[in-house]
Amino acid sequence: MDKPQSCVLVIFGASGDLTKRKLVPALFSLFEQKLLPEKFAILGVGRKSFDDESFRKYICENLKIFTKLEKIDELVEKQFIQNFYFCSIDTNSIPEYSKIKQKLTSIVSDYDIDRNFLFYLSSPPSLYERIVAGLGTCDLQREETYQHNWKRLVVEKPFGQDLDSAKTLNKNLLKVFREKQIYRIDHYLGKETVQNILALRFSNGIFEPLWNRNYIDYIEITAAEQLGVENRGGYYEHIGALRDMVQNHLLQLLGTIAIEPPGSFEPQSVRNEMVKIFRSLQEISPSEVSQFSIRGQYIKGDLNGNALKGYRQEDGVDPDSRTETFAAVKVFVDSWRWGGVPFIIRTGKRMPTRVTEVAINFKPAPHFLFAKDNPSYQAPNRLIMRIQPDEGMLLNFGMKSPGSGFQIKNVGMDFHYSDLSNDRLPDAYERLLLDALLGDATLFYRGDAAEACWSFVQPIIDSWDNGETPLYGYPAATWGPIQSTELLKGHESDWRYPCKNITGHDKFCEL
Ligand code: BG6
Repeated sequence: MDKPQSCVLVIFGASGDLTKRKLVPALFSLFEQKLLPEKFAILGVGRKSFDDESFRKYICENLKIFTKLEKIDELVEKQFIQNFYFCSIDTNSIPEYSKIKQKLTSIVSDYDIDRNFLFYLSSPPSLYERIVAGLGTCDLQREETYQHNWKRLVVEKPFGQDLDSAKTLNKNLLKVFREKQIYRIDHYLGKETVQNILALRFSNGIFEPLWNRNYIDYIEITAAEQLGVENRGGYYEHIGALRDMVQNHLLQLLGTIAIEPPGSFEPQSVRNEMVKIFRSLQEISPSEVSQFSIRGQYIKGDLNGNALKGYRQEDGVDPDSRTETFAAVKVFVDSWRWGGVPFIIRTGKRMPTRVTEVAINFKPAPHFLFAKDNPSYQAPNRLIMRIQPDEGMLLNFGMKSPGSGFQIKNVGMDFHYSDLSNDRLPDAYERLLLDALLGDATLFYRGDAAEACWSFVQPIIDSWDNGETPLYGYPAATWGPIQSTELLKGHESDWRYPCKNITGHDKFCEL
């Protein structure tokens, strides 16, 4: 694999949750695998009054808590930690950005490296524009081409709160950075199993001929979470499931399923095709919102005798909150390939299990010869792409049960990543951080894609915010409001209820 050039990674929001939970463990894993450059420094920026030493101590403590590795090699950890530095500034105050510039100058000279900088926005989103303006005043974004150095900017989600704010954010980022320097991150695109959708489609000849409206009846995309909002109630209150999961992660997932084969696997080629899908999403008019979308909020529930709180009883949540913790949307892609095939998306907190998967439901055989022996037999062909957990694939089809007559039984062929025992599935952030350091933007979405996705969800947001659509309650540890099955009308009468194990499905699966 290519190794990135020597550089400095500058993390804004360095004492925040994302840094300790995701970025540092991912960096450590890359470091251990020797995938980071020989000369590589990480500069944390934030309000906290850390100096380099106390920041290293903080990183070290949290690495032990959040790494998924069973054991940390102490020597490797020591070498890794030495590369951390801290610059304490008020990120709201533009004059203070000169301190970052000074610190970078000293790191670059200590390490004897080129001025290659990757700026990572992991701060509260309300600061993104300010930080970029601050970098701009110090000219830190400038790429001195004659010296062959680069400057890149990684932007975390949420990318705006709605269409207008996303447009403004794009405009303000582009005042300082050029589009090709900006890496908008959606960690779903970094998941191995999401990338595998592209590999499955475009490295096999057998699926593509079936991948269209002639053979596919409808597609279900489920992202269920077992947990409630935990300690994020205050944040979640202003977000809700549609903004938190659908506008970004699940539309990106839809994009990878629906995308036309790109001419090459070059970033622009892939991203051009993704944007075409987002621009082809059939607009839902205000009068259609309640027909095409369902929202819900978990109420108190019970699991095996253990009481679970309702959303309104969670810390930081308004006792009269109208924020949705469940969202289901029926989406059509207006194209020759997909005309009339619904992509039915659902996501929610406090569902019976944690599972993300795509179920491609194929049309039944045109003439079923065995109806006499199987009067209520349903179309068996379904391809399940399991994103997490029990990552893998399952293909269902009908087979004759041994014996007299023609009893048809639904059976499955399955593949589990865990069977590839030597291949660890890297965390999404490992892949995305490495790609950003290498300058490969294939798995990052462009500004036009962000705006196209917001354009699609905006009428739903407006209708939900104006209270024009009902908000249904669902007991914690259930699959969301029963009204969501309405979205399947004309197809199967009910959702697939996946279990932790890819081959299982059960409406009442255990937590
Ligand atoms: C985040 C959302 O972007 O994605 C969280 O803000 C959600 O609310 C998380 O829990 C889900 O990610 P994953 O990788 O666990 O499916």
